[in-house]
Amino acid sequence: MSNSKLSQSISTDGADPKISEQVLDVEKDLLSMESYSTIGNNLVEDAKMSVRNVNVFYGDKQAIFDVHMDIKKNEVIAMIGPSGCGKSTFLRTLNRMNDTIDSCVVSGEVTMDGENLYDPKLDVVELRARVGMVFQKPNPFPKSIFENVAYGPRLHGLADSKVDLDELVENSLKKAGLWEEAKDRLHQPGTGLSGGQQQRLCIARAIAVEPEVILMDEPCSALDPIATARIEELIEELSQNFTIAIVTHSMQQAARVSHRTAYFHLGKLIEVNPTETVFTMPEHKLTEAYITGRFG
Ligand SMILES: Nc1ncnc2c1ncn2[C@@H]1O[C@H](COP(=O)(O)OP(=O)(O)O)[C@@H](O)[C@H]1O
Ligand SMILES: [Mg+2]
Repeated sequence: MSNSKLSQSISTDGADPKISEQVLDVEKDLLSMESYSTIGNNLVEDAKMSVRNVNVFYGDKQAIFDVHMDIKKNEVIAMIGPSGCGKSTFLRTLNRMNDTIDSCVVSGEVTMDGENLYDPKLDVVELRARVGMVFQKPNPFPKSIFENVAYGPRLHGLADSKVDLDELVENSLKKAGLWEEAKDRLHQPGTGLSGGQQQRLCIARAIAVEPEVILMDEPCSALDPIATARIEELIEELSQNFTIAIVTHSMQQAARVSHRTAYFHLGKLIEVNPTETVFTMPEHKLTEAYITGRFG
C-alpha cells in the first residue's frame, strides 16, 4: 500500500492530527515488520481450535501474516478490523473454505481438539459440517424450508427414519428461533421468507448437522435492525451449545455478542482481549484508533 493510500485510510476529521500522525507511524512500522507478535490473550487453556503460524496468500499477495490464536470452547469470539484486513480470509482458514479459491494457499497449523484440520486425508465435506458457516447474504437452497434443514442430516446420515428427520428439522428450527414462523409453511420455498427469517433458516441448516463450531461472516449486514437484534439474541443462546466465531464490521455488535474480540489490521492479528477490555482499555494503538473511529 502506498503512503498516500495509507493516509487516506485514516480519517482526520475532528481528530487530533498529532494522534493521527502517530497512528500512521505505527501502521507504517507494521507494514515493514516481517513478524508480529499479537498482544493480549490470544492463547487460552481450554482451546477448542488452535491456530499456529498461519499465513494465507492469494497468488503472491499475502493476506494473513503468521497468526497464532486459540478459540475457546463455547465462547463467542468476534473478529473486527478495517475492510480488507483479512477477517473473512482468516475465518475461512478455520473450515478450509479457502480451499475453494484457486489462487489461495494456506500454510501453518489449524487444529480442533488436537486434530489437524489440514490433514490431506481429512474429509472436508464432513469438516464443513463440524465447522459450519453462515454467510453475509442469506443463501438458502432453492428448496422448501424443510428440505433446506433436512439436506445436511440426510447427506451425513444423521436421521434413521422419517420421524427422526422430522424431529431433527423441528428441533433445528426451534433452536434457530424460526419454528413458530415456519411450522405452517415447511413445504414452501425457503427463498419466500424475509431476509432475517432466511438468515435464521441458514442458521437452522448449519446447526441441523450438529456442528461443534459455527463461523459467521457479517451475518447481519444485509438485515434490518429488528432482524439483527433477533440474530444477536440467537447467538447468545447458541453459545451455550456451540463455539462461535463471528466477523462483524459493527463494533456495537462485537461489544454486544462476544466474550473476546480479535482485532486485525493489514493481515496481522494485532490484539486479542476480553471484549470489554478491547472496547474500554485497548492495549494497542491501532486497536484504539479503530475503536475510536479513525479508520474507515
Ligand atoms: N478471492 C480473492 N482473491 C484475491 N485476493 C483476495 C480474495 N479475497 C480477498 N482478497 C484480498 O485479501 C485481503 C483480505 O481480504 P478479506 O479477507 O476479504 O478482508 P475483510 O474480510 O477483512 O474485508 C484483501 O486485500 C483482499 O483484496
Ligand atoms: Mg470480509
